[in-house]
Amino acid sequence: MRSATSRNPIAADPLAFARGWLRSPRSVGGPFASTVWTAARIAETTLDAACGNGGTVVELGAGTGPITEALLRLGCPLDRLVVIERDAEMCALLEERFAGLRVLQGDALRLRETLAQGRVKSACVVLSGLPMRVIPADQATACYRDALAAMPPDGSIIQYTYGLRSPLDPAIVAALDLDAAFVGREWRNLPPMAVWRYRKRAT
Ligand SMILES: C[S@@+](CC[C@H](N)C(=O)[O-])C[C@H]1O[C@@H](n2cnc3c(N)ncnc32)[C@H](O)[C@@H]1O
Repeated sequence: MRSATSRNPIAADPLAFARGWLRSPRSVGGPFASTVWTAARIAETTLDAACGNGGTVVELGAGTGPITEALLRLGCPLDRLVVIERDAEMCALLEERFAGLRVLQGDALRLRETLAQGRVKSACVVLSGLPMRVIPADQATACYRDALAAMPPDGSIIQYTYGLRSPLDPAIVAALDLDAAFVGREWRNLPPMAVWRYRKRAT
């Protein structure tokens, strides 16, 4: 999956993220985008979880793109990355920052439809910055179910959270028969960020 990339995206406007938060505090979660340390850690975890033989990395809730940037910097090929973001200003910024990147403006909670509209047939790993604990359980479950359906049986969902507990309600983890693994916490983030990995329980 990893390959050298010389891409040098233009810097993100930090105020763009804060404006997005003012428009939709609940779904954006906070006024600050992920720091470079957090972004690098999440991108590393995501690329480690990506299947070796290629496939598409799907990022849900890309915001202004700090993790997108880290994924590209760590060697994720541009044509193997698809990002989904609901906020129009952030989508425009992502397109401006990363020329040629597939940016799907839409609802990541309606993942099957949004991927189909973007003609994305499958994924090797799904990375989510969506605030799953404040999303109604039926929508969070449907989103994870769609993500799992798009991936091979051993595919992973990498989920990050500002919270201290599992970002996915344990009842959903049980209903979908998932293994939940805490990957680590990055303190150099405001607030500190925890990274989790979910995948189908082996039978
Ligand atoms: C916690 S922020 C993370 C942003 C960025 N990935 C970062 O690390 O700085 C969550 C992002 O998810 C987006 N978002 C929330 N709900 C969404 C949905 N249902 N569909 C698409 N994007 C969504 C928000 O607009 C916001 O940009």
